[in-house]
Amino acid sequence: MTIVTTTIRGTLLSTPTSEVLDVREDHVVTVGDDGRIVSVEPAEINHAPVDIHLDRGTVLLPGLIDLHVHAPQWPQLGTGLDLPLDEWLFRYTFPLEARCADLGFANSIWSALVPALLARGTTTAVYYGSIHEPATVALAEACVRHRQRAYVGRVAMDHPQGTPAFYRDPSASEAVAASARSIEAIRALDSPLVQPIITPRFIPACTDALLEGLGELATASGALVQTHCSENDWEHGYVLDRFGVSDSVALSRFGLARDHSVLAHGCLLSDDDLTLLSRLGAGVAHCPLSNVYFGNAVFPLRRALERGLRVGLGSDIAGGAEPGMLAVCAHSVNVSRMLDDGVDQRLGSERRGVADSAIDATTAFWLATVGGAEVLGLEAGRFEPGQWFDAFTVTTIDETDRHNLDLVGTRLGIWPDLDDWPRRFEKIVRRATPADIGHVWVGGQAVSGGRALSGG
Ligand code: GUN
Ligand code: FE
Repeated sequence: MTIVTTTIRGTLLSTPTSEVLDVREDHVVTVGDDGRIVSVEPAEINHAPVDIHLDRGTVLLPGLIDLHVHAPQWPQLGTGLDLPLDEWLFRYTFPLEARCADLGFANSIWSALVPALLARGTTTAVYYGSIHEPATVALAEACVRHRQRAYVGRVAMDHPQGTPAFYRDPSASEAVAASARSIEAIRALDSPLVQPIITPRFIPACTDALLEGLGELATASGALVQTHCSENDWEHGYVLDRFGVSDSVALSRFGLARDHSVLAHGCLLSDDDLTLLSRLGAGVAHCPLSNVYFGNAVFPLRRALERGLRVGLGSDIAGGAEPGMLAVCAHSVNVSRMLDDGVDQRLGSERRGVADSAIDATTAFWLATVGGAEVLGLEAGRFEPGQWFDAFTVTTIDETDRHNLDLVGTRLGIWPDLDDWPRRFEKIVRRATPADIGHVWVGGQAVSGGRALSGG
């Protein structure tokens, strides 16, 4: 029998569908010893003793899911975005990732990165490690230690042209064996929070033998798969030249585009690709900021959702220079608006953009919660009995209250007479920073990274 271990009372904001903001004022959430939600009821019905009573300016939100993080790239976040993807990889990124052969260096990155993401409300992250087994398993251990829900993959890459000699698996068979061992090692941690994920970097970095071997490993192990897919013109064109088909078709032939595969970017996906991936149950990690630099085009998000494709959001650290998923939500709205309107003022307004492409803050937040959970097959993102209690709080200040004068300009300000719940929610999505985030829970437990600004 489930025993209730935590009871939280306050206002809940969530997006159960891509169109609906659900506001539940003065509700009580009870959480069981298994880390899942037991009940969500109005306070006037549930009179259980309350452990944490959120004050009036504080709201509870479902935890954010980052579907695409390159963990070893954390030290270069915010730099090096002057080059196109292929040159960026060889000039900056492969040399940095190669340094994770040094387990001490890798651990110094993991110790900074995981708490930084938790402090931003990222309760689930889907990580690329490096090609190194010890560093990758240490990343999984860091997630267990800090209590972040995570999928952690050893990066597989063996192609003699698509990778540098100093950062390459020695052969396809050794790469498959190393990935298989890393799956075993991560499963041996026996954490309900952390799972392995099979990670061929992308088609240009992998030989046919490696792609085939990892497809077989996916079937044999039951682990999920992640890779990059139709990211930009260069990568998409390379795959067309090599296989005569799109990434989606090629990945499906290798058994890598499958139920709950996480395919990053997808900027160049055709309508046929969207339909194929939707039928296979694969999902896209939409990385709006990274795509500005590397993608050559804006991912057709609304078209994908209309075709029933699973879609969530990714930061793509460090191709995207923003680690917080609320900011990534805002970027997804921004790029959708630019796609909708178009960007070349020399074209008439009727020819400039792609009509019906815009999304709003509600859809963006849904992508970062329920959308991401559906890509992964994870029971999270909604405040409903049975869902994991992965959540965080945001505290706003009343800018008209003179007691807050010290905080004005540094914290998220609300104008009580003007800001109804939909406006407060929009402000949170577009403007909240780590300074506004208080508690963070994963699987029912308060985690490191969250600061108790708002407890009662
Ligand atoms: N494609 C292959 N590797 C990478 C990477 O590290 N970042 C991005 N954005 N695309 C990739
Ligand atoms: Fe990426």
